[in-house]
Amino acid sequence: MAIDPFLVACALLCFLLHLALRHFLGKPTSTLPLPPGPRGIPILGALPLVGSTPHSSLARLARRYGPIMYLKMGTCGVVVASSPSAARTFLKAFDAQFANRPSAISAKEVTYGYQNMVFSSYGPKWKLLRKLASFHLLGAKALADWAPVRRAEAAHMVRCILDAARIGRPVTLPDVLVCAFANIISQITLSLRIFDAQGEESNQYKDMIVELLTGGDLFNIGDFVPAIAWMDLQGVQAKLRRIHKRFDGMVTKLLEAHAASAKQRQGKPDFLDVIKANREGEDGQTITDVNIKALVFDLFTAGTDTSSVVIEWSMAEMLKNPSILRRAQAEMDRVIGRDRKLEESDIPQLPYLQAICKEALRMHPSTPLSLPHFSFDPCEVEGYYIPGNTRLLVNIWAIGRNPDVWEDPLEFKPERFLSGKTAEIDPQGNYFELIPFGAGRRICAGKLVGMVFVQYMLGTLLHSFDWSLPEGEELNMDEKFGLALPKAVPLKASASPRLAPEAYI
Ligand code: HEM
Repeated sequence: MAIDPFLVACALLCFLLHLALRHFLGKPTSTLPLPPGPRGIPILGALPLVGSTPHSSLARLARRYGPIMYLKMGTCGVVVASSPSAARTFLKAFDAQFANRPSAISAKEVTYGYQNMVFSSYGPKWKLLRKLASFHLLGAKALADWAPVRRAEAAHMVRCILDAARIGRPVTLPDVLVCAFANIISQITLSLRIFDAQGEESNQYKDMIVELLTGGDLFNIGDFVPAIAWMDLQGVQAKLRRIHKRFDGMVTKLLEAHAASAKQRQGKPDFLDVIKANREGEDGQTITDVNIKALVFDLFTAGTDTSSVVIEWSMAEMLKNPSILRRAQAEMDRVIGRDRKLEESDIPQLPYLQAICKEALRMHPSTPLSLPHFSFDPCEVEGYYIPGNTRLLVNIWAIGRNPDVWEDPLEFKPERFLSGKTAEIDPQGNYFELIPFGAGRRICAGKLVGMVFVQYMLGTLLHSFDWSLPEGEELNMDEKFGLALPKAVPLKASASPRLAPEAYI
């Protein structure tokens, strides 16, 4: 029997069409359905739907499609978890499966090719970096050891604000905060204060970090449609490359200065000395010079602006509602008095201050969509099929504002953490209603440091000064989306001293 060539061609065409559709529509290879989600448009898929404020666009879509949502963006599958129970499912039940990070061209530009901890794959190198950082820098013991450095930097910050107050100059809060945090990180990592004082140099550094974290777009088209990545349509890659060059210049100089002063540190090694002395992991892993640079990059980026953003939002909320500020000050006056500055050891006696910090982390988490996770393998979750090579986004911002979980979610009410069931919630990854640091294996490596930074520095600002908006200025509460979520307009405020003069010495 002769085979009709036209039929063969049709069959072949149908087969190719089927493959193409499966590729572009992500058709499941399981009998279970994909989670619901919007379809979007050809080639880009749902990418255009995220707009310029993806955290709120995705929250809106989740209200329609549900707390586990699947979106095809370009060639990539993305699952979004938007409720505490969805977050618990992915970050607890499927924690190991989703513990990877996706390869994103934009992240590659700034992480020396994923050689850092934040974007490295879940594997032996990541474990070694994380173990060393947790043990020698970010864990409870290291945190206690470095308390004097935080104390000294808080005192510098207070003096800088006092100088501004004396001449009636308002303070740009993120500038002074990022300068203080960068100085703390640089001292414990490299034994040097990176900035003598807050000024032009430290402001430029802060702008660079903010640009990196807001310009490091989670939704860079090239990451989702690799075939057109070379066009760099949003200019994200070029911008990150430029910032990375500056950052690399800064880190290279710091590392050279550190190497040159090795003799002075004999007997009292800093974090970098410890890392250099422990380059070899148990399973043949070696920490390279590039890993070290990339890790320093992590600490300066993840460790400075994140905490500053939370404090800045707290202050903005309190300037909007000064009764909260007055109540916090009254608590401090009762516990500490006005003859000395706040100490870290006072914090356990200051429940209202702690509640303000939790409330700020609920409403204004520094990384609204956390950092992206990734699973290579397919899995079945809550009756849905999740294909392999899927990215996971956890909408921390939406969870913190979910009306099914929080009463009056859009109101800044620290009192909610003082009594009732919510009083026991802490933000360190065990209560999925409040996960500003994420949860599971990839939970923020600096969560203990972050909490202390926020509580201690915010407490110091509130206890040492009265705050008001500069004359004629209006409070702008707009957000600027990126990896982080700072205020669109940096907060400026006028301070006036409220402690006894000797307390400032
Ligand atoms: C209030 C302050 C902070 C907040 C809200 C915060 C939040 C986060 C979040 C949401 C993640 C991603 C978690 C995930 O992937 O599931 C993260 C990761 C990370 N953070 Fe933080 N962070 C803060 C402060 C810090 C500080 C002070 C440091 C270090 C000095 C730090 C270092 C890191 C590192 C290294 C990672 C990557 C962990 C990994 O991939 O294994 N963070 N942070």
